[in-house]
Amino acid sequence: MAIAIVYGSSGGNTEGVAKKIQATLGMDAKVFDIGSVDAATLNTFDTLILGTSTWYDGELQDDWESFNMDTLELKGKRVALFGLGDQEGYGHEFCNGMGILHAVCVDKGAVLLGEGWPVDGYDFEASDAVKNGAFVGLAIDEDNQDDLTDQRIDAWVEGLKAQL
Ligand SMILES: Cc1cc2nc3c(=O)[nH]c(=O)nc-3n(C[C@H](O)[C@H](O)[C@H](O)COP(=O)(O)O)c2cc1C
Repeated sequence: MAIAIVYGSSGGNTEGVAKKIQATLGMDAKVFDIGSVDAATLNTFDTLILGTSTWYDGELQDDWESFNMDTLELKGKRVALFGLGDQEGYGHEFCNGMGILHAVCVDKGAVLLGEGWPVDGYDFEASDAVKNGAFVGLAIDEDNQDDLTDQRIDAWVEGLKAQL
């Protein structure tokens, strides 16, 4: 099974998490920057792990923003999500970018994996990435809780592997 891990990252945090997810998965997974990969390449994968940080007013990271989502084929594909944000500085729109990716995946008919990540241990007011009381994917906060990143990745990837 070939897996694509695709990230959009302005300062390197989401890129770093993408690479840690790759290392933790220990499977045949390739990492791509959404700012430099083309849709034709991504469309050859049937399993994708998509990650974005959140910027501006709860928006997608710039390279995701520039990417033409119409060209990405996700129907029937297995997709898991991860998102980075700052729950103290932007607690009213924490990891909203992951919520935006989630909406795109649902709209395109993807089969979502890695959902139901608990909100316990985070402290924020609102997030578009929370559905039915849990995150739609892995939420990471490198600004305030970088000490928890590795264990969060380990636990989330373990759950994801059981679904793959
Ligand atoms: C100008 C600015 C706006 C931001 N807006 C949000 C936001 O709306 N929600 C959020 O959760 N985090 C927000 N963040 C925090 C970033 O998502 C966070 O620092 C992330 O780790 C950056 O990852 P990157 O280096 O991969 O882009 C913002 C950060 C900056 C500097």
